[in-house]
Amino acid sequence: MDRVTIFGAGHVGATTAFYLAISAGLEIAMVDIEAGKARGLAMDIEQALPFTGSSSHIEGGPDYGLVEGSDLVVVTAGFARMPGMSRTDLTQRNAPIISDICREVAKKAPEAVLLVVTNPLDEMTYVAWQASGFEHSRVMGMAGVLDTSRFVYFLHRLAGLEPRDVNTMVLGSHGDEMAPLVDWSKAADRPLSEVLEADALAGVVQRTRDGGAEIVGHLGAGSAYYAPAVSISTMALAILGDTGRVLPVSAYLSGQYGVEGIFLGVPAALGREGVREILELPLSEQELAGLQDAASRVSRRVSGLGADRR
Ligand code: 2OP
Repeated sequence: MDRVTIFGAGHVGATTAFYLAISAGLEIAMVDIEAGKARGLAMDIEQALPFTGSSSHIEGGPDYGLVEGSDLVVVTAGFARMPGMSRTDLTQRNAPIISDICREVAKKAPEAVLLVVTNPLDEMTYVAWQASGFEHSRVMGMAGVLDTSRFVYFLHRLAGLEPRDVNTMVLGSHGDEMAPLVDWSKAADRPLSEVLEADALAGVVQRTRDGGAEIVGHLGAGSAYYAPAVSISTMALAILGDTGRVLPVSAYLSGQYGVEGIFLGVPAALGREGVREILELPLSEQELAGLQDAASRVSRRVSGLGADRR
């Protein structure tokens, strides 16, 4: 049975454990400094399984030893946004947490694939890569699947497109420089610009960019977790199942799209070794410019982290 360790038994971590436990037969460990919370939620999830037919096992606790033998490690630990905060406001608080976790992961599960979820996503994925010392193909971040899920949802709710007809991806950074591919995307094989008015399309793009903040505003404390959990699980199942599924993920770029030395949202084929390959889509000039703008901003923020670049 494959083993997945999830760091952080907050809403995102626990909901991911729950969804993954039902979706596949897995050994799942939740690690959290709040020992009782990790143990209690693991018990609750396991007690939900008998009527689902799932053979998964879940355990929880504060002990880093739980990560031993993991095939996949999901890092959700850290502070979440509060209303009025941008994702990048979390950088200084979350970078040391991610570093500590990933150093321990490297010692105890040196063969694992690392999937980072903590914000600011592209920067924390870089920190995880640095701290773990893993080859870059075994480190990635979850954002593009969530942003694409929201984009498809808003195309459906605001513009009436059927989700199954839409072929699209959101690339770039998980933040203000999110880059929905409006020119590359198709709805029932037609360009979005042919099926939607420019204003409607611009509205959907903006609502997608603001999607996370809109939920933070309603919740008052903390951020979204159901859509993030399904997005993480979608990546986890592609990795563990060695499917080669192409998903938008924050991956290390070594020249693709003219970008080098940072993690950024791009389409990647996923398998047990992590990122098998990054796909270079034929983007329009504007889409490429959006991606490169996101890259230069992420690159500046990564330099500001004070982490040694390797
Ligand atoms: C979101 O977009 C928390 O960044 C996450 O909801």
